[in-house]
Parts: sequence; C-alpha cells; structure tokens
Amino acid sequence: MSIKRLSEVDVAGKRVFIRADLNVPQDDNGAITDDTRIRASVPGIRDALSRGAAVMVTSHLGRPTEGQFSEGDSMAPVAKRLSELLGKPVPLIRDWVDGGPWHAALKPGDVVLLENCRFNKGEKKDDPELAKRMAKLCDVYVNDAFGTAHRAEATTHGMGLAAPVACAGPLMAAEVDALSHALASPKRPLVAIVAGSKVSTKLTILRALAEKVDVLIVGGGIANTFILAAGGHVGKSLVEKDLVSEAKAILDAFPGKVPVPVDAVVAKNFAADATPELKALENVADDDMILDIGPQSVAYLKAIVAKAGTIVWNGPVGVFEFDAFAGGTKALADAIAASGAFSIAGGGDTIAAINKFGIADRISYISTAGGAFLEFLEGKKLPAVAMLEQRAG
Ligand code: 3PG
Ligand code: MG
Repeated sequence: MSIKRLSEVDVAGKRVFIRADLNVPQDDNGAITDDTRIRASVPGIRDALSRGAAVMVTSHLGRPTEGQFSEGDSMAPVAKRLSELLGKPVPLIRDWVDGGPWHAALKPGDVVLLENCRFNKGEKKDDPELAKRMAKLCDVYVNDAFGTAHRAEATTHGMGLAAPVACAGPLMAAEVDALSHALASPKRPLVAIVAGSKVSTKLTILRALAEKVDVLIVGGGIANTFILAAGGHVGKSLVEKDLVSEAKAILDAFPGKVPVPVDAVVAKNFAADATPELKALENVADDDMILDIGPQSVAYLKAIVAKAGTIVWNGPVGVFEFDAFAGGTKALADAIAASGAFSIAGGGDTIAAINKFGIADRISYISTAGGAFLEFLEGKKLPAVAMLEQRAG
C-alpha cells in the first residue's frame, strides 16, 4: 500500500493539523485511567514541532451529543496530560472550527489542543462542508488516529480529502505497517484469540477470521454463546441466545478450528468477593455465572499458544479485573509472553490485562486500537487508510 508519511513532508513554517486518537478511559471523576493513547501520539506531535511547524491537535473523547459543549466530555484532562508529556503548555481551544485570534497567533513551535471534535455538528456524518471549513485551518493535515481509522468522520476522513496536503502520522504508519506485515504472510500456525463480552459486535470478524486462521480461540461472553451452541450449560452467564444458531453454524463450518471451553470458574454473583467454584460445563447450574475458564481449558489453550507461529489477541477470557477470576487471562497472557510466536495484541481491555500482568515488553506488537484493529484483521478497508491512499495518488 502506498500512503504519504509525515516524515516525508516539509513542515517548517507550516500549520499542521494532527487528528490523533486521544480517546482515553476515565474514571467517574474524569481522571485518566490509562494514558497509552496520549503517549503514543507524542512522537508525531514532537516531530512536527521539532521541524518548525505550528501544531494543532484534535481528537474525539467518548460519544458526546453533537452541537453542544459538555464539561464531562471536555478534553481538559487530556490537555493537562499532553502538556506534562511534551513539557510545554498546551492551551485547549473551544469553538475552533473557523479559526480566530488563537489561530492567527499560532507560531512555529506552538501546540494547541482543539476541543473534542465530536462537539462539532456534522463530525460523525463526515459532513463535507464542516470538513472544508476545518481544512482551511491548515497547510498539512496529518492522520495519526489509527484507533479511529474505521470511522469515516469529518476529522478522520473528509478533512483529509479537503486539506492541501494529507499524510499519515508515525503511529498510523507503524500500526498499518505492523498489522499488514503480520497478516500478509503470517508464520503458521496462525492463532487468533477473540474474547470479550459480546458476540454480536464481533460475529462478522469471527467468521472472517475462521477462514484465515488455523485456530480460533473464543473467550469471555463470546465463548458462552459457543458453549450453548455446543450443547453445554451456561446458567445465568452473559450470553446472546439469539446468536446461538450463528455460533453453531461457525462450529459446523470449521470443524476442529474453534475449540470451546470444557470447564469454568463460576460464581453465584458478579462481584470481586464472589466465591469461585470450579465446574465442568455439564455441571454448571441455572444460578451459576461463568466468570473465567477452568484449568483444563487453560491447559489446551496453553498447548495451542505454545505451538503458534503468529498470535493475534483481542479480549480477555475471564473477568480478570477480579483476582479470583483472573487465572485464565493471566495464564493466557503468560503463555503468549513465553511463546516464540510473533504476537499482536489490541483493544482497551487487552491492554489493561497486559499492563496488569506486566508482559507488555514480551508482546511483539501492541496496537492502540480496538474496533479498528478488529476490522483491519477482518480484511476490511479502513476509511481513514483508504483516504490516505487516495491522497497519495
Ligand atoms: C475507540 O476507542 O474504539 C476509538 O477511539 C473509536 O471510538 P468510537 O468507538 O467511539 O468511534
Ligand atoms: Mg469503541
């Protein structure tokens, strides 16, 4: 694929607009609980600044109502963290679409953060008029938001089409390079682990992945639907009953490729202090909830991972946030860390698990993206990447 990269563009004295993905998790008080995405966006910003650009950065944060400012979705905490990381002030600009005194005053070496781009009406619909107005702010548009590359929105797509120059930032380029490289001719066996709470959001990827991989491991709530499809019991676990027939169709279409857990750690309620109980799946009672996989399932999973040539990991296999139900995910994380395979991990929960178990430096590549990562693996063309290719001619 061919895309223009920020490193190839002369930005000295230019106004550079960077669309980053600074959509970080926050606690109830708005404090940032994981700043991975902010840290990952710093190299692109630093590069432009060090080469004499005047830099504007924006991102979305959460999913606010368009057309109105809301304090709870403000990027103020992000501006503060970014300023700490860059070691310089990062003013936060509200109502920035048509420029203003702040824009006129922007000098080479300055950086500002433009408020949550999803406050602007037309952002999510990729409104071309909004995109054109925003494109007037800059000489060079940089898309460094791989985490949002699966969305065609005004700042991720339309603006890139309208700006004088459009290129990929270093994070975007590194993500696309790493994932394309790993998936173009993966070392076999290729093992994918797709876990997490819901099947419906990931069902199309499961089918597409089952075609491409040698083993598809399902975990978490996704696995519960497959357990039902395979005739096991799930009690009152999180499960999507209306998708059982689809899960069964996948099991039938790919015999032996999609192993289903055989035992589980269950509890009567969903809580950190719930009493864990180990059960074979045929013994799961109506009032049990499956919160982790059991030791037999862990053993087969470890054996698969140990033999893998390439591993793609999205989603925890249990409620790893609760120590009593973290065993399966920890064993999986340790097995991936220990394996000689090229390993790629992505998604917010997955990164949280990787950090909790301290194995980040033993994963070959960690993607900052969740949804975009999955759509890329599925083989879909991501709109932001398509735009960059189009602009590269
Ligand atoms: C993400 O966190 O998945 C990306 O930042 C995209 O956010 P969105 O799902 O709200 O579009
Ligand atoms: Mg999301």
